[in-house]
Amino acid sequence: MKPKVLLTHQLLPEALDFLAEHVDIEIGTSETYLPKDDLITKLKDKEGLLPLLTAPIDREVMDSAPKLKIIANCAAGYDNIDIDYARQKGIMVTNTPGVLTETTADLTWALILAVARRIPHADQFTRAKKYKGWKLDLFLGKEITGKSLGIIGMGRIGKAVALRAKAFQMNVLYTDPKKLNEEDQEKYRAVCVPVDELLSSADIVTIHTTLNAQTRHLISGDKLNLMKKDAILVNVARGPIVDEKALVEALAKRQIWAAGLDVYEREPEIEEALFSLDNVVLLPHIGSATYETRLKMAKKAAKNLIQGLSGQKPENLVV
Ligand code: GLV
Repeated sequence: MKPKVLLTHQLLPEALDFLAEHVDIEIGTSETYLPKDDLITKLKDKEGLLPLLTAPIDREVMDSAPKLKIIANCAAGYDNIDIDYARQKGIMVTNTPGVLTETTADLTWALILAVARRIPHADQFTRAKKYKGWKLDLFLGKEITGKSLGIIGMGRIGKAVALRAKAFQMNVLYTDPKKLNEEDQEKYRAVCVPVDELLSSADIVTIHTTLNAQTRHLISGDKLNLMKKDAILVNVARGPIVDEKALVEALAKRQIWAAGLDVYEREPEIEEALFSLDNVVLLPHIGSATYETRLKMAKKAAKNLIQGLSGQKPENLVV
């Protein structure tokens, strides 16, 4: 008999076919969110769980799943899972690192450029048939080339963002608990500085760190105060790293020039005031959203799940 697994959501067809060869699948919901009660009920007889990052997997969920052996998250981040409790209960947790690095770095740059050159606003203006001819001061943005880029979190995605910064001849600063070795420092042309120094000297600050107890509200009101008045803040990592209310205030008071957000503190809720600010570009958490990458993520999660259930060590074991 094939092991029973729960997918909180539908996967892309190729990944689903691959999984169906090895396990007996139940799909939680076709909606964006699977209610917790349903998750708990459906997990009772399951040995494996493949959640999206929208499904919080806490103690209560794990305690109600007596047969659960593995949680194969379909995301690089795994802050939706109580990792310490999973470790305590001997439930394996896996993620999908590596396959979304380049796609997310591309989106970061799309967002930086969209903010700096006010692309969404210019598009709306043009569609509204307001373009009446070339003007010297129409949609003046911020120059990128030669400026200073501050990267918070120099993991895979931070590094891929740094490589792309070379094309813009930028001066790259980064902050990370792990300092790059000399070879990598040379390769990424990046200088390690304390976070306060990065915030006060970078023209563009981009966040690529994981969300954990140390990084929650890392970008507080006080930290935003350190940034230059004409700086841009971009977050494509996890919303709670930035104090969203403090960011609204900083944007409204023009303490910083603008921001680009792909993630929010209480997704899918977004701080209401952000919608009426004209110095922010808002995206719906699409950092890794290309068909190719999302398929790779789904397949990776499926492979981890199958490995874990067949007694092998999953390739991307977190705990
Ligand atoms: C997306 O946000 C991911 O962590 O994969």
